[in-house]
Amino acid sequence: MRHGHSEADVVPGRPGATSGPDDASCWLVRAVGAGARVPCLDGVERPYVDLDSAASTPASVSVAAAVDAFLPSYSSVHRGAGFKSRLSTTAYEAARHLALRHVGRDGGRHTAVICRNTTEALNHLAYRLRLDPNDVVLTTVVEHHANLLPWARYARRRYVECGTDGVFDIEDVVAGLDEKPRPKVLALTGASNVTGWLPPVDELCDEAHGRGVTVVLDAAQLAPHRPVPTGPDFVAWSGHKMYAPFGAGALVGPFAAFAEGEPFLAGGGAVELVDLDEVLWTDPPEREEAGSPNVIGAVALGAAIEELAQIGWDAISRHEAALARRLRRGLASIEGIRLLGPSPDVDTLAVATFTVEDMHHALVAARLATEFGIGVRHGCFCAHPYLIRLLGLGCDGIATARSQVLRGDRRRIPGAVRASAGLTTTVADVDALLVALRQLISGSPPPVDYVQDTATGDFFPAVEGTGWWSPASGASGGCARG
Ligand code: ALA
Repeated sequence: MRHGHSEADVVPGRPGATSGPDDASCWLVRAVGAGARVPCLDGVERPYVDLDSAASTPASVSVAAAVDAFLPSYSSVHRGAGFKSRLSTTAYEAARHLALRHVGRDGGRHTAVICRNTTEALNHLAYRLRLDPNDVVLTTVVEHHANLLPWARYARRRYVECGTDGVFDIEDVVAGLDEKPRPKVLALTGASNVTGWLPPVDELCDEAHGRGVTVVLDAAQLAPHRPVPTGPDFVAWSGHKMYAPFGAGALVGPFAAFAEGEPFLAGGGAVELVDLDEVLWTDPPEREEAGSPNVIGAVALGAAIEELAQIGWDAISRHEAALARRLRRGLASIEGIRLLGPSPDVDTLAVATFTVEDMHHALVAARLATEFGIGVRHGCFCAHPYLIRLLGLGCDGIATARSQVLRGDRRRIPGAVRASAGLTTTVADVDALLVALRQLISGSPPPVDYVQDTATGDFFPAVEGTGWWSPASGASGGCARG
């Protein structure tokens, strides 16, 4: 990969702090590595088109600059007496404060626990809610795995089903809330990582709270793109999906919820006093953050929050709405492409999951990458139950996939292709995808043969020396799992 760019590649810059154009012709967050060129099969290096923001956004230049500026002050947090330790502690606590502010919570009643990411935050919370194995957690089939699997460890689950358009109604959730035994928790996504659909969180919170049910919001996809509703009791999200890929995310909830009981992790920093057979835990949030905290990650997360605040939700929403329209309507208009989820006229994030007639999802993704320099994700997007429903796979389809995976053969694993955009994306990126897909669908044969790896299900061009595949690394490069 070559970094830097020629004049011809320069992407127009952010126009103004709060008044981005509605056409998304300019990026709103400048990405580290923007303009980097990647090798394509024809020997040409093309500017990388990153349409995988829902998985991980690129780092923002401002975030990287904030990390760079902080690094000379970096030292141990909370437990060092030196001047740099004090600077680090101040920076870490400032990031915590920003995390609270980002989700509209105050630092008196609420606390922010700095975690690795949404998955860790929800595992943390599922443990910390001290659920009884007979307690019911109501969740939905729209969730990604981070908001499904942790609950399975501690409680019974009840699921809200979706329709073939990937959407559920408030009444479906209400029915789940009213069913006996009444759930203790409603665990809900703020936005789908697969279809970009935005469930009506405020209304659902009212219904849950009216029945005394605690609401947990998985804001992994929502937090970088829309204001986070203040109704949910707990909110979890990740820095790596909001331009701060330095290993920190946050779990925000009432201070009181963490004030009693054993923390998720036991260790130094979470304690007041330890004897060999006794421990006095300290107060939250430190009680929840055993071990040396990720100060750099927190500083990066705080910087991303500040950058989003500076851009403003109005400009963010306009930019992403323009991208969503272009992407989803563009895909829906191409014959041979099936857009999964709600119709392109529904307000969603700039995320689109689709299948291409008669072409394996892994082959579509491989060809976009190797022939056009476009990065998308394929597979089931860490949301297997949702994808299975969107694809309309019956029990037989699931059983076949299961037995093949158990044999180590992922060649026919069900899936789709996902393109996702954010503030580093422009309409030119979306258009590049649409042009490339039209070319793939036109029926012209691929420039080279592609071979499918049995273990991963991924396709690789059958050529040497492109930097794309060597037999030795093939099995480790799978991108469909999750
Ligand atoms: N990170 C996962 C995704 O790609 C959940 O959507």
